[in-house]
Amino acid sequence: MTRILVTGTAGFIGFHLARLLLAEGFRVHGYDGMTDYYDVALKRRRHAMLLQDGNFSATEGMLEDQALFDRVADDFAPEIIVHLAAQAGVRYSVENPRAYLDANIIGSFTVMEAARRLRVGHLMMASTSSVYGANETMPFREADKADSQLTIYAATKKANESMGHAWAHVHGVPITMFRFFTVYGPWGRPDLALFRFVEAILDGRPIDIYNHGEMWRDFTYVEDLVRAIRFLIDAVPGGPETAVEGDSLSPVAPFRIVNIGNSEKVRLLDFIEAIEHSLGRRAIRNYMPMQVGDVPATWADAGLLQRLTGYRPQTDVREGIARFVAWYRDWSGK
Ligand SMILES: NC(=O)c1ccc[n+]([C@@H]2O[C@H](COP(=O)([O-])OP(=O)(O)OC[C@H]3O[C@@H](n4cnc5c(N)ncnc54)[C@H](O)[C@@H]3O)[C@@H](O)[C@H]2O)c1
Repeated sequence: MTRILVTGTAGFIGFHLARLLLAEGFRVHGYDGMTDYYDVALKRRRHAMLLQDGNFSATEGMLEDQALFDRVADDFAPEIIVHLAAQAGVRYSVENPRAYLDANIIGSFTVMEAARRLRVGHLMMASTSSVYGANETMPFREADKADSQLTIYAATKKANESMGHAWAHVHGVPITMFRFFTVYGPWGRPDLALFRFVEAILDGRPIDIYNHGEMWRDFTYVEDLVRAIRFLIDAVPGGPETAVEGDSLSPVAPFRIVNIGNSEKVRLLDFIEAIEHSLGRRAIRNYMPMQVGDVPATWADAGLLQRLTGYRPQTDVREGIARFVAWYRDWSGK
């Protein structure tokens, strides 16, 4: 049974990934610090569900606690590490930049160091579409230059990509970095738009619509996203001779960056209409200017993912919203 250490399993994406890996017969050890960035009860519920599977075990701990992380990694002896734990959130990073340096720079280094020491066969780490920052050429491609991050969140993720490249070069650890595009779905994050909008509409509160609704996002359904990660586990970056067409594979290291997105940009106002349709209620709209650090649009070219795995996310946003709403009503009792 292949052993995978996954960080951030009490989080939104880590929970879904662990569930899929367990269903596919992997042994999974989760590592999560249960930070109070949002409702810890939701994180505990996710972990409790995973713990019902005998092939899942978990440690509650911070990434910055290197002694603990090393002990856990040594005991479990993973063949693969998927590093998803992070201080996430674009907007929060404007007020709390230091939290991002601790979790995302120091924390990711702890994970990279363990991966090197244990000689894991594949280290996979989460980056974000936010690293494309001020880029205007769309859809975004991995091989495009991306040097204009707009927030400290994005800057720490870009730093992770650079650190990963150096690590792969110096130590030969095969590393894949994922650039995720606006992930949504059941068991989602309370700080993200879909959750906040649904909650506010059901409570009869207004929703804030930034840039007067002139925003576009490539919304990616969480189950599609974790399936893409599952396929990428087997697409281990090797030497330049293993490159596929349009690859981001480094010429000097077993390292590549892969977008995981739906390859469809959806207008925020259409997204809100789909939520209204699903809830059978109208939103009270509070139009606002653009927020600092935000970008007007994201849109993934997911061609590299498809060439590497034969897979491409395709859940329609209306379908994904309906599944979220069904989950939310059940979970909240509203
Ligand atoms: N959800 C998205 O739309 C999205 C988009 C782009 C990138 N990402 C990236 O994907 C990854 C997972 O995101 P998510 O949406 O599941 O977020 P999440 O906040 O739900 O999950 C992250 C988990 O990491 C844990 N954590 C945070 N800091 C920690 C630390 N210092 N030590 C130990 N544990 C810590 C938290 O307790 C949480 O359970 C993150 O790296 C995030 O930056 C997410």
